[in-house]
Amino acid sequence: MSQRKIRVVVTGGAGFIGSHLIDRLLADDNTEVLVLDNLSRGRITNLARWQGNPRLDVVQADVRDAQSVQALLYDSDIVYHLAAQSTVMGAVNDLGYTFSTNVVGTFNVLTAAAHHGVRRVVFTSSREVYGEPISLPVDEESPLLAANSYGASKAAGEAYCRAFRREFGLQTAVLRLANVYGPRDFGRVIPHWFELAQAGCELPVYGGKQVLDFVWVGQAVEALVRAGRLEGSVPPINVGSGTGTRIVDLARRIGRLVDSHARLSLQPARKVEVTRFVANVDRMRQILKLEPPLDPLAYLPEVAPLPVRVALT
Ligand SMILES: NC(=O)c1ccc[n+]([C@@H]2O[C@H](COP(=O)([O-])OP(=O)(O)OC[C@H]3O[C@@H](n4cnc5c(N)ncnc54)[C@H](O)[C@@H]3O)[C@@H](O)[C@H]2O)c1
Repeated sequence: MSQRKIRVVVTGGAGFIGSHLIDRLLADDNTEVLVLDNLSRGRITNLARWQGNPRLDVVQADVRDAQSVQALLYDSDIVYHLAAQSTVMGAVNDLGYTFSTNVVGTFNVLTAAAHHGVRRVVFTSSREVYGEPISLPVDEESPLLAANSYGASKAAGEAYCRAFRREFGLQTAVLRLANVYGPRDFGRVIPHWFELAQAGCELPVYGGKQVLDFVWVGQAVEALVRAGRLEGSVPPINVGSGTGTRIVDLARRIGRLVDSHARLSLQPARKVEVTRFVANVDRMRQILKLEPPLDPLAYLPEVAPLPVRVALT
């Protein structure tokens, strides 16, 4: 008799982190994955290598549509909930979409998961829930003082995760991701600067004082997978490198990688952006048994445009 496969739903699975998660999950022959994505930022091409694989089902659907979510989560064991308005500037520019996707959409996913008796929902929260931290590194007991609509929507999602655990016994795991980087991302600082540097353009640095925590997508995916396998209730967990990178050092390093003499152009700071974050990663180490690399930017060459990558190897 053949063993029943583990059935996993990944909302936002055609996006940057989601598609890497799919690669990791489908590497296990015993796992079947259903991707629920409205393709607003996700791309089907991110999943091209799995085209025709019977263990992957991709459904274009929207987490704001409670009925679809209810139907699609039927009979699933684990739900990784990544679908979101996923950028700070995107959130600020479309408050309504951010609220309905990140808050109502999360509520719909939790409701359906509780209804179908899903074993665990893994929720991708963000370091933005802390707002501007009082001190560094930031541990998970720090106050949640979100400073923009994106952070506020993630804090609300976390609160619903907590409430559903208490009220319906739904096991959730909240991962507060730092700044994730890797191939397939776009519109965020690292891919944007690579493009500009390669075109020989100046790299705009807003404010210039930022110190942030960058984490390789492979590590973020590993954290998600391990969180999905946990037993019992778990507290929120930071997923980061635990090391601060000065934004100007990041820009210089990108410039060196593409061998351009791209200059930095200092721009006024953007009010909604948090300027300092370094994660305390003790819980990540203890609960997820994950060790961050010594150099958080060690994988930067993997993100560089192809000709550069070839030149580097
Ligand atoms: N990338 C980071 O640095 C980072 C940091 C902290 C938290 N996160 C969180 O991790 C998750 C994944 O982020 P990402 O970087 O892969 O972003 P992404 O934008 O690449 O992926 C999000 C996916 O959600 C889909 N989506 C958006 N609205 C939807 C809706 N209403 N219904 C269904 N699908 C919808 C998009 O099409 C996209 O494929 C998000 O929840 C994001 O907030 C990301």
